[in-house]
Amino acid sequence: MAKVGFIGLGIMGEPMCRNLLGKGHDVTVYNRTPAKMGPLVAAGANAATSLADLVRRSEVTITMVSDPAAVQDVVTAKGGLLGALSPGKTYIDMTTVSPEASRGIARMIRDTGADYLEAPVLGSRKPATEGTLVILTGGDAGLSRRMEPLLLSMGSRVIHMGDTGMAAHMKLIINQIMGTILCVFAEGALVGMEAGLEAEKILSVLRNSVVACPAILLKGPDMLGERVFTPNFPLKHAHKDMRLAVETGKAAGIPTPVTKAACDLFGAARDAGFGDRDISAVLRALTDR
Ligand SMILES: NC(=O)c1ccc[n+]([C@@H]2O[C@H](COP(=O)([O-])OP(=O)(O)OC[C@H]3O[C@@H](n4cnc5c(N)ncnc54)[C@H](OP(=O)(O)O)[C@@H]3O)[C@@H](O)[C@H]2O)c1
Repeated sequence: MAKVGFIGLGIMGEPMCRNLLGKGHDVTVYNRTPAKMGPLVAAGANAATSLADLVRRSEVTITMVSDPAAVQDVVTAKGGLLGALSPGKTYIDMTTVSPEASRGIARMIRDTGADYLEAPVLGSRKPATEGTLVILTGGDAGLSRRMEPLLLSMGSRVIHMGDTGMAAHMKLIINQIMGTILCVFAEGALVGMEAGLEAEKILSVLRNSVVACPAILLKGPDMLGERVFTPNFPLKHAHKDMRLAVETGKAAGIPTPVTKAACDLFGAARDAGFGDRDISAVLRALTDR
């Protein structure tokens, strides 16, 4: 069992931590908003007094925060990870970030003598709770293998994608496709409903068609039904991922016009106040015009 420090107790981080505790690891937690540490401390975690305190108590430090800027904050802040990591310690970032951001963090961590692994996840609140996330790793293959038993405390599969940046690339591809699919699903279904098709029938035919896919089957009923948009994957993070996918395409010299159009819809929904609702609230960018 490992001494694990976990930073970022949001929708994903909180259940991931519970699974680490459930598997018997010695877990120390830290969250920018300290109140979120309470339930995990009640469940057996130690509360760190600072980021540096958490790193000092841990063999492996994990971050699961919002975006590249948040990772940068945690790593470079006064009293942050950079000043506390040292040879023999490992830092794993599970946040969805760009390949470029991950490589930048890797360079900084290398100077501390600690090991760095990127490990973004596939799956939302439910797989995080059930411990069935698919975890993509980027970085040294031997390090990925050594970390696999720990990562499997939070997931059902670990897939090593290659060097640092490759797991970040793969994660963005998935979210770029998911975000775009949901946008075009919303467009098509709204037109059909306006013309008189019933939501139930649209969903039923889709389910039996060549375009049936988990994203639509999971999000479609609420998007065409009650439109509660319970935040499992917050729209603001989906927008961030679409933006990172467009930037990553640009850096690679590959045009991404479809992703860019979908990204703009996410931006409009966010500007309209749906950033903290679910990714599926992107539909509101079409209905609220
Ligand atoms: N939700 C999903 O379905 C899902 C699935 C796969 C991957 N992801 C990715 O996983 C990451 C976390 O997602 P989530 O849904 O758990 O997000 P979330 O619920 O919004 O939680 C974000 C966490 O990051 C912390 N944070 C934000 N900015 C920070 C900063 N500058 N310094 C320190 N801590 C900071 C927040 O602290 P506070 O509590 O103080 O705000 C919170 O603990 C994101 O990169 C997301 O894209 C999410």
